[in-house]
Amino acid sequence: MALSYLIKNGIALPALIFLLLLNPFSGVSGVGINYGTLGNNLPSPKRVAQLLQSTLIDKVKIYDTNPDILEAFSNTGIDLIVAVENYLVSNVSSSASAADEWFSTRIVPFIPATSVIAIAVGNEYLTTDDDKLDHNALVKAMQNLHQVLLSRGLDRKIKVTTTHSMAVLASSFPPSASTFATTLLPTMTAIVGFLADTGSPFMVNAYPYFAYRDNPAMVNLEYALLGNSTGVRDPKGYMYTNMLDAQIDAVRSAVSALGFGNRSVEITVSESGWPSKGDAGETAAAPDNAKTYITRLIERAQSNKGTPMKPRDSIEIFVFALFNENKKQGGVSERNFGIFNSDGSKVYDLDLSCKFCSSNGNKMGFGEKVSGMARGPSVWCVAKPHADEKVVQAVLDFCCGPGGVDCREIYEKGDCFEPDKVHAHASYAMNAYYQMHGRNYWNCDFKGTGLVTFSDPSYGKCSYSQQ
Ligand SMILES: *[C@@H]1O[C@H](CO)[C@@H](O)[C@H](O)[C@H]1NC(C)=O
Ligand SMILES: *[C@@H]1O[C@H](CO)[C@@H](O)[C@H](O)[C@H]1NC(C)=O
Ligand SMILES: *[C@@H]1O[C@H](CO)[C@@H](O)[C@H](O)[C@H]1NC(C)=O
Repeated sequence: MALSYLIKNGIALPALIFLLLLNPFSGVSGVGINYGTLGNNLPSPKRVAQLLQSTLIDKVKIYDTNPDILEAFSNTGIDLIVAVENYLVSNVSSSASAADEWFSTRIVPFIPATSVIAIAVGNEYLTTDDDKLDHNALVKAMQNLHQVLLSRGLDRKIKVTTTHSMAVLASSFPPSASTFATTLLPTMTAIVGFLADTGSPFMVNAYPYFAYRDNPAMVNLEYALLGNSTGVRDPKGYMYTNMLDAQIDAVRSAVSALGFGNRSVEITVSESGWPSKGDAGETAAAPDNAKTYITRLIERAQSNKGTPMKPRDSIEIFVFALFNENKKQGGVSERNFGIFNSDGSKVYDLDLSCKFCSSNGNKMGFGEKVSGMARGPSVWCVAKPHADEKVVQAVLDFCCGPGGVDCREIYEKGDCFEPDKVHAHASYAMNAYYQMHGRNYWNCDFKGTGLVTFSDPSYGKCSYSQQ
């Protein structure tokens, strides 16, 4: 019945069978990138947004709430992670109204056209040298912002988190024995409890590069470069063939050691990268190594692979960084983590082409022609024909409720009310949710009941929206 409904309504049978049998999306995840702006020669945010639309990058993390960037990424299908700068954390922590003011002046004007999916409160806040930063303010600011989102019904769409450096760990080796630094334990316990309660990821900036640079005699370059090195064995039996995995699992162990038991907190790599140039002693900072690391990092982000400790939990990754930033403080390498030069040319050859993007969006640099709306094939999300009706009903309730979808068209008198079937109504709502969230494959998962399709399911006056 539901199958015939889909076929009748224009989903080509071969395409449907192809999707059902092969499910080509099951192994594809998106890739994030950090868009820092500490340069005086960078292209305009509009140009950056255009460039990224034709690549496999579908999430962009920024370090503030630059209104030009928020505006530029509207209607691009690219999700944004914005940030509360360290110096503003105290203000946001001071009261519910301060948090509300932060959110309503900086974010509200741009949503939902701009898909903001997370707010990172502070960057490496707990490990910066600035002792004016009050650790308790961090947790309070996160809680205040979450309350603001709750009261606006946005808490499912926008997650609140914070990014850490690896220096929050007392030690990172062996991974299974890693714990947070003792002085940070109370703060970390509060943060991880908050993340577990709100279903938000634990974000860590992880740089095998620095570990290698500081100890080249001890660290195998291939191990640091995300290669398949002979491996390092953890006393608990896990085998590590690359350092990034070991770093992620070290964080995982430290989180577990806090005793939140089986309440899982997902680990996200909020920054990782490799410089193409460095000071005299930094021999590994070179274009070929950077190319190798970033290529592998992107492959890694797109695979559904986990780490030795949790092989089935895929890891979300944000590459550092989009541009070489000429005004960054520190050594030469700090200004050379970019994959693009400020003029938009690539620092080294890197394939950022998007397999699922239509048009000629392949291997594009700024100098080449960028077509207006290059991103994404025309794709929609519908309910799987044989998905369990109870689950589909729950998905429908979610989308039209907390999911924030405007479901008027599937209510009586709406253009999509007929056929009055759960699967049909759910398809409409799931598609709207999927479009609203930037058309990422995981936004059409719905506990396994969703299916991405290349054929427009619209029929009669019932139109399936596409942004
Ligand atoms: C927080 O920032 C807002 C906006 O700049 C300001 O009006 C308010 O006084 C600040 N509050 C505190 C406690 O600093
Ligand atoms: C890594 O190396 C091992 C041993 O040489 C080999 O068995 C394995 O297939 C390699 N894995 C990958 C992903 O290349
Ligand atoms: C998680 O732990 C709680 C309390 O120990 C237990 O009741 C529950 O069954 C566990 N859930 C899973 C999925 O293991």
